[in-house]
Amino acid sequence: MEPVIFVEDSLSKEEKYISLIPQIESYMSPDDELISTLANVSSILHECMGFFWVGFYLVRNPEYLYLGPFQGPSACTSIKFGRGVCGTAWKECRTIIVPDVEQFPGHIACSSLSRSEIVVPLVVSCESSFSGKGKCLGVLDVDSPELDDFDEIDEKYLLRLVNSICKNIK
Ligand code: SME
Repeated sequence: MEPVIFVEDSLSKEEKYISLIPQIESYMSPDDELISTLANVSSILHECMGFFWVGFYLVRNPEYLYLGPFQGPSACTSIKFGRGVCGTAWKECRTIIVPDVEQFPGHIACSSLSRSEIVVPLVVSCESSFSGKGKCLGVLDVDSPELDDFDEIDEKYLLRLVNSICKNIK
């Protein structure tokens, strides 16, 4: 994709997502490598939503996530299964919103400025999965320097975005 994406600064958070996500989806293609799509999605979310840190951790093996494409301050390069917010979202295969990172047991502080975060797993449907839960390829992580900065609006639209990414994996 060669995205030329624009979102009005004056819009509310939900209006920005409503304007932005169809634009991102229109550029996604199964012909693109996943890593390229994730790199552009990180950049677009950083630029248009003003996120402090936004990026992907990807499943390397049954024990670890590794740092994928991101925008923002440098971050820890690997996270163990079940550790921190990302490792927990991977283990439990669910979105986690953390209003105050200091209240999340085992939170991994990549930046001392991060105060709240949301983590959304990337799940692809898997025909061999009897659980019907699909296979988790990694997680999208967004961090904020403000307390309580993420809510059900972020959950709804970031989940839609992540589902679109997963549908475009070749
Ligand atoms: N806070 C995350 C680690 C990743 S960084 O915030 C970018 C966690 O607890 O899993």
